[in-house]
Amino acid sequence: MNLFVANWKMNMQRAGARAYAEELGRRIGERALSVELSIAPPLTALDAVRDPRGRWSLAGQNVSSETEGAYTGEVSARQLADAGCRYVIVGHSERRRIFGEDGKVLAAKLAQVRAARLTPIYCVGETQDERTRGLSTATLTRQAETLHGDPPDLQLVVAYEPVWAIGTGNVATPDDCAAAGQHLRGLLSNRRDLRLLYGGSVTPENAGAMLKNAGIDGFLVGGASLSVSSFAAIAGLP
Ligand code: PGA
Repeated sequence: MNLFVANWKMNMQRAGARAYAEELGRRIGERALSVELSIAPPLTALDAVRDPRGRWSLAGQNVSSETEGAYTGEVSARQLADAGCRYVIVGHSERRRIFGEDGKVLAAKLAQVRAARLTPIYCVGETQDERTRGLSTATLTRQAETLHGDPPDLQLVVAYEPVWAIGTGNVATPDDCAAAGQHLRGLLSNRRDLRLLYGGSVTPENAGAMLKNAGIDGFLVGGASLSVSSFAAIAGLP
């Protein structure tokens, strides 16, 4: 089943989150969905977004690489599970770039996510500079190495998010995405249950062609997910 994940990043207050969830619930109504939806709100809005009927799941945007203890400001995988999360985004390019998270830290985070029985949404993607220098596939190969210790029989979501496409309006073409996806699927051919998402300037206008032609299983949506009507349109809901 295709998966559509709303990554709100550091946006939205609780009242807005509650209104969003109510509106999304109204749009879905009693309909049995043929897609899977997940929302990654800020931690402060997890409660406000939770759907008692389970029509969408919750996802964490980040997680600590430590289990528990004196790590002021961190949130553990077990705490995210306790707060009702099903997924956790790991290795988003903003975490890699702004907060300096490298493969070693991300491998530790993945292990924490698995120990808490959550499913990682592991992000990979080349920068503009790497792309210009012809290093796109080498970058994906290096970033995928972080998954080597992750048990191949467990469900895994990988989001291909070229950094040059994130928040820029400069969406990848379906061909770009298909090529990256093919490379990633080759690298991860031992995985029993792999879904590949695309992320980076996804909108209701470009989502259809991408879903049809890029060989992906859904999207990780940033900016456009802040509007319930755009997110619903991207996921093919009314
Ligand atoms: P964007 O962000 O949709 O705003 O480009 C995507 C992401 O960072 O996950």
